[in-house]
This record gives sequence, structure tokens and C-alpha cells, in this order.
Amino acid sequence: MRIEPFRMERMQSTYENYVDYNLSESGVRPMRASEILEMAGGPGRFLDSELGYSQSNGTEELRDRIAAFYDGARRDAVLVTNGGSEANYAAFWSLLERGDRVAFMIPNYLQTWGLSRAFAGRADAFRLTPRREGGRMRWALDIEALRRAVTRKTRVILVTNPNNPTGAVLTAAEMDEVVRAARRAGAWIIADEIYRGAELSGRTTPTFWGRYGRVLITSGLSKAFGLPGLRIGWVIGPPAAVRRLWSYRDYTTIAPGTLSDYLGRIAMDPKRREAIFARTRVIIRNNLPVLERWIHTHDDIFGYIPPEAGAIAFVRYALPVGSIPLVERLRVDRSVLVCAGDHFGMARHLRIGFGSDADYMRRGLDRIDATLEELRAPRRRGRGPSPAPGPVPRRASRPPAPPR
Ligand SMILES: Cc1ncc(COP(=O)(O)O)c(C=O)c1O
Repeated sequence: MRIEPFRMERMQSTYENYVDYNLSESGVRPMRASEILEMAGGPGRFLDSELGYSQSNGTEELRDRIAAFYDGARRDAVLVTNGGSEANYAAFWSLLERGDRVAFMIPNYLQTWGLSRAFAGRADAFRLTPRREGGRMRWALDIEALRRAVTRKTRVILVTNPNNPTGAVLTAAEMDEVVRAARRAGAWIIADEIYRGAELSGRTTPTFWGRYGRVLITSGLSKAFGLPGLRIGWVIGPPAAVRRLWSYRDYTTIAPGTLSDYLGRIAMDPKRREAIFARTRVIIRNNLPVLERWIHTHDDIFGYIPPEAGAIAFVRYALPVGSIPLVERLRVDRSVLVCAGDHFGMARHLRIGFGSDADYMRRGLDRIDATLEELRAPRRRGRGPSPAPGPVPRRASRPPAPPR
């Protein structure tokens, strides 16, 4: 089966370890194994763990602890996977047939865009758009576009909430609209909630779990928990759907890593989970103002709506260069890696990760200045397009084109 390249992930996989400053990450500075073990009072039996196959759908204790993060969920509603990406893969693979359609939130992490097009053949975009509400700009759900995107053939509505790349969080009324659209079409909602728990406000984002029968939540420890190296993800869903999904995983990775399940059990204990979220909040609350100060030194070219969750800021720029060539130029000339808006379905934006060490980030941002200065120069001489600053992206780019 042909599958279009997942361009953002390919770019990161290729370059993230070969630049001086990697600001392409969407999570916070990772925790160490020793920190997790200390939370449990020391290494305990960890080093004596027998490295056999672990329980294929996750140990009962891990599933119990994951279920405790979702009101009313029980162990049989949980399937543990290798990362949120396997959770998404298995969910889409199990639900889609050729000829189905997927209604897809844009901008977004486009793993499931590519999977939708491979498994179903078609994905229909609906957008988050900048809107002034309650005296502030936010990324709001375009409800008319959602209604247009959901048809009788729609099998899945995909939302990422909190969103990557904008860090936006849906309101309760917007969540209701998604449920209403799904109910009308008899579609499933797949809610990728992997950034849940990384809210700047400290108010955990409400989950789609419990709002509608046909819901699968995909998530994991990679973002809000700062534990991407464990590769622990999960799907929460109705037990019958989760059993079916489990059998799909027999064809992928069979089981989570034994040591990862062990450390995941420690991290998902409800008290420790909250302590980990508190660590995440310290990092993002400390670092976002540093990034914002830098953004505001470029107010003539940048427009920006602050994220509500996650360690990522999505910044619009008014410069005569597309986001993919701009990212490439920053990498080659300055050895700084950020992500291109076009890789999330939105042109003339950069996604900048602020979850690393603040000084490291500051030094990376300083390097970007020199390239911005070069790009501004022709405009100052009156040759470039006029700037279009301000927080409102006028027009979004179309969702990604099919592979050539
Ligand atoms: C929205 C979203 N879902 C899933 C993933 C993949 O998560 P994992 O690293 O746990 O496979 C990412 C990674 O960036 C993401 O942003």
C-alpha cells in the first residue's frame, strides 16, 4: 500500500539530532528514569525486572491507573500502545474502510491525515480560525466548516484537543458541536488528547470521554508528562471497540516494553501524575514569557495567539518566503530547527517549541534573528511585499496536497 510521506515527522526524524538548537519539539524537557524511580521511593524491583513479554494490552495496574484519568472509565476500556502514534494508527486502521471519509481538524499533527487518506481515501478539512472572543484572540472552531465536512459517508471525526500546533483548547460549546455533528452522521469521534495535562492555567482540559458513545481517546506519556522515550500511549474506548483494536495490535508491536510499563505505572499513579503535570507547568510558565519577549521584538512581522496548553507556539510571519524554505534556511544557515506551518496545513507560520531549557531556547532564538534580518532587508528597500502583521492569519493554506 502506498502512503504519502508524513513530512513533518520525516523532517524531524532526519535532522533533530543534527542541529545546535532543536526547537522543533512539542513536549517539555524529558524526565529521567531516576526521577521516576525516586517518585516511587527508589529502584525497587526495577533492575530485577525479567525482560519477557509484558501483558500485551498493558498490565492491569497500568490500565487501572490510566482509566483513573478518565471519569467512569475502567480497565477494560483501556488498550496500552507504543506511543500515541500507535494508538492513532490502530484506531484509524481498525475503523476505516476504502470509500469512508474522515472529517479532519486543521491545523493539526498530520499523522492521521495521511492515515485517513491511505485507509479511507479521503479526508475533509474543517478549521480552527483566529477569532476575537471575550476581549482576546483565540483559535475558534469554524462550526459551519465542521458541518460541511461531516457527510453521510463520514466514518470518523478527528480532533486534537488541546491542539497541536496552536495549543488551543475547545470550549464546551465547541465540543458539543463536534458531538452533534458525529451523532448526525453516526460517525466515531477520535480525540487525540495527548497534550491534556499541559495547560498553562492548570485547569485540565475536559475530555471527550463520556460525551458520546462512539468515542476513542488516543493519548500517551510523550507530551504533558515529558516521557516520550517510554513510548507508552493508549486508547480509551467502549470495551468492545477496544477488544477489537487489541487484535489489530497483534499485527504491529504486540506489547509495550516491559520496563516502560513498569515506569508508566509509577507515572500514572494519580498523585504522581499530578506532580508530573506540576513539573510541566513550571517549565512552560517559565519559558513562554521568554519566547513571547522574543516574539514581540519582531512585532513588525509576527502575529501570534498565545497557546493555552502544550509547549508550542504557532507564530504567523509576514515575510516573502514559504514556511518550508524558511525552516530549511534556518537549519542550514543557523543550525536551528523549528517546524513549518505548511506541515500542519497552514502556510506562513512557524511552530516553535518552548519546552526545553530557557537559556538554550534563547540562544536558538537569537540565531533566528540574523535570518529574519536578512529577509526583512529587501522589504525595507521597498522590493518585498508589504507586511501584514497582527494576530489574524488572513487565509490559511489548503490542507496538504496528495503526494506527487
Ligand atoms: C497530536 C499528537 N499525537 C500523537 C503524537 C505522537 O505521540 P508519540 O510520540 O507518543 O507517539 C504527537 C507527537 O508529536 C502529537 O503531536
